[in-house]
Amino acid sequence: MLGAVNPPVFENSLFAFATAEELGEAVRNEDERYVYWRGTNPTVDLAQRKLAALERGERAKCFGSGMGAISATVSSLVSAGDHVLVLGAVYGPTTQFLRYLEKFGVTHTHVDDLGGCDSAIRSSTRLLYFESPSYMAYAVVDIAEVAAWARERGLVSVMDNTWSTPIFQKPLTMGVDLVVHSLSKYVGGHSDLVGGVVVGPSRLIRPLALTEYQLYGAAMSPHDAAKVIKGLRTLPVRMAAHQERGLAVAAFLEGHPAVRAVHHPGLPSHPGHATALRQMSGFSSLFSLVLNTESRQDVASFLDKLRYFRIGVSWGGFESLVNAPALSTEESVRATMGIPVGLVRLSVGLEPADELIKDLDHALEASLA
Ligand SMILES: Cc1ncc(COP(=O)(O)O)c(C=O)c1O
Repeated sequence: MLGAVNPPVFENSLFAFATAEELGEAVRNEDERYVYWRGTNPTVDLAQRKLAALERGERAKCFGSGMGAISATVSSLVSAGDHVLVLGAVYGPTTQFLRYLEKFGVTHTHVDDLGGCDSAIRSSTRLLYFESPSYMAYAVVDIAEVAAWARERGLVSVMDNTWSTPIFQKPLTMGVDLVVHSLSKYVGGHSDLVGGVVVGPSRLIRPLALTEYQLYGAAMSPHDAAKVIKGLRTLPVRMAAHQERGLAVAAFLEGHPAVRAVHHPGLPSHPGHATALRQMSGFSSLFSLVLNTESRQDVASFLDKLRYFRIGVSWGGFESLVNAPALSTEESVRATMGIPVGLVRLSVGLEPADELIKDLDHALEASLA
């Protein structure tokens, strides 16, 4: 419109109709017609079409947060008495949401691998949920194998693809039914947005767009959709830079005597590296390392000595971030998840890699030498 290089932001909470009959028809098809912002909005729609195309899905629905997308997606697929399989480690609040569903009679079981799925599946199992690479440990799941296993048993598979972004991994092309993302990470890319999306076939997206999206009210705003569209424009370039810096930092840490392990699927030493190379075209820059210590004090001292890496939650923005479950997660939860005291998570940002390496080297020497 008007030769504008940026799409307009439709700041309309409602849209008016020429006749009452037209309004009625629009309300019945509110997933596709513009009626009210809590249901649809043209700017949000544009972001959705771009995300669907990038993930190779038929349709996408954007939400006001990643958890909005995850909770609406899971709720749309289960009823009282149903069972969910969770494969590998997943984002903490996703597990909390599954626990919350217990009060509505929906149960779940966490398993480590497909052998565990074979043992835990029930006649009431409807859904298989997973992430790859997995949360905090960055273990790689064979996506095509897991998706085929679910399909053969009539389950819907849902995968969180936030870590890789659709630039580096496209799970729908490997047989996964629905992909969810937090757009608050790399897709937004500037730590100024919270959003989420689910992508997949119309037969699964339409019902949740008409029901859970409308009723839970986790709508994306057109302003955030405009930021998503901007983020998508530079996503391939930013991901290439994140990959390069992340791998340089991970390789440095792997050789440091104060570091016991580095969990980055892009390192040849990672147990899932070969599978990762088969199903991913690149690696993001969120990974974990294990410091050579059992002391929370040492971990705190390491974090406090860093200058470039800011201490905080979330990830995927310009600025490098550091977080440690021993300091930020309840002790019992950390122990149940099998996360060692010395585990530290890094989100490598877009600052020069040599500066980030100097920063880490100094903090390791100063806190653990
Ligand atoms: C892997 C993963 N999935 C989903 C979410 C939830 O996204 P949001 O914070 O946008 O609700 C997060 C947030 O940290 C995440 O790390």
